[in-house]
Amino acid sequence: MSFTRRQFLQTAGGTFSALAAPAMSRAAGAPTRGELATGVFRQRIRSSGPETLVWGFNGSTPGPLLRFRQGDPVDIRLSNALPQETAVHWHGLRVPNAMDGVPNVTQPPVPVSGTFDYRFRVNDSGTYWYHPHQSSFEQVPRGLYGMLIVEEAKPLQVDREVAWVLSDIKLGEDNLQVEDFGRMSDFGTEGRHGNVLLLNGAPAGPERSLELRPGERVRLRLLNAASARAFVLEFAGHSPWVVSYDGQGVAPHPLPGARLRLAAGQRTDLVLDGSGSAGQSFAILDHGRGAGQGGATLARIAYGGRPVRPKVLGRPAPIAPNRLPEPLVGKATDHYLVFEGGANGAPAIGRVDGKALKVDEIMERHGLAWTMNYNAEHEHALMHEPLFNVKKGEHVTVKMINNTEFEHPMHLHGHAFRVLALNDQPNRMREWRDTVVVGARGSCDIAFVADNPGEWMFHCHILDHAAGGMMGTVIVEG
Ligand code: C2O
Ligand code: CU
Repeated sequence: MSFTRRQFLQTAGGTFSALAAPAMSRAAGAPTRGELATGVFRQRIRSSGPETLVWGFNGSTPGPLLRFRQGDPVDIRLSNALPQETAVHWHGLRVPNAMDGVPNVTQPPVPVSGTFDYRFRVNDSGTYWYHPHQSSFEQVPRGLYGMLIVEEAKPLQVDREVAWVLSDIKLGEDNLQVEDFGRMSDFGTEGRHGNVLLLNGAPAGPERSLELRPGERVRLRLLNAASARAFVLEFAGHSPWVVSYDGQGVAPHPLPGARLRLAAGQRTDLVLDGSGSAGQSFAILDHGRGAGQGGATLARIAYGGRPVRPKVLGRPAPIAPNRLPEPLVGKATDHYLVFEGGANGAPAIGRVDGKALKVDEIMERHGLAWTMNYNAEHEHALMHEPLFNVKKGEHVTVKMINNTEFEHPMHLHGHAFRVLALNDQPNRMREWRDTVVVGARGSCDIAFVADNPGEWMFHCHILDHAAGGMMGTVIVEG
């Protein structure tokens, strides 16, 4: 493949530890081939004390940055050296259903020491990611995730590109991961959070720096790969432009309210212009959970070198849009999703395996905490009743109504959707997304054309919520 370790070091910016180079190759005209090998190994996370036992791809967490060109055929062999079954999902890519990586739904799980070949074409440009869909509430926070970039045929004009995989990890004093996965107290509340924020696999903090030259224009690709945490970023002294959400270009605009909220699973591409001068330094802050009053510094923008241009550039040009089928609300069939349950919620009733129970009974007897349309499902239960069925080519709207005290970043597989309304207020931007936050006691309306046949997951990307019942499917009849 057209991507070498050296190129990545250039694009990542000097002081960031490199993401591992992908083991990929490409002969002219042939598919881009590569291997992803899951495994368990030691990696230095905290700068002092022992190394940390992590799970990752190709010997690192995050896994290799996969980079393709729009339209490339891709052929990736997954081999599994975990002590558990797994499967890899390509979050946001509109792949054929059989390549979607959902165990027991789109493929058999890949056994310990087994392999699986993923073959698909990357038709959409943008910033995506990959992660297991098997026991994801454990496998993802142990370190199994990586960014996947599909370059536009006509790339956005910038001086440099930087890729940041944000996440968190829960470490004990011994630097080992706290292995408290699957606790009901996390399933039914805001999910399991780490105690160390990670930026490309190493602790975030004021000692991390993004070096910029005055006037330089950088494209910053951001992914939140944390299993529950939402990041709320602020770029002190800077006004970056948003150019895409979840891989899909938007009309370039400043950060709404000067902050960028990145829920679990979401991506945003920013264009950041070096408006400072040599020697200056500015904080990039997180205002998410536990950050405290003025926010926590994730990294610093540090200025050095000769100016690239005398004045910062103006509003960037938009990214050429992907060819997504435009949903027509007037001819769409309407569907709804109601969320109930969780801690502090109103008393609710739901079904498990067809049997109606009160939510607290569901918690006690089944270890499930949430319902979607009055059903709680175990992660990838073999006998899923779909949330709804649609026909191939059908225009669809979905109203999500959140009757819980927690927010839910909802992710649909195999399609991108337009966000029509939030809390019944029309959303003027109507951006495309694959993961959208439905606020506590709020609602969200989306629309899409169901053009990709198969059984597709529709679930909360707080992975503890997904495992706790917020996991369903939509069948697109081909
Ligand atoms: Cu990012 Cu169903 O997953
Ligand atoms: Cu949720």
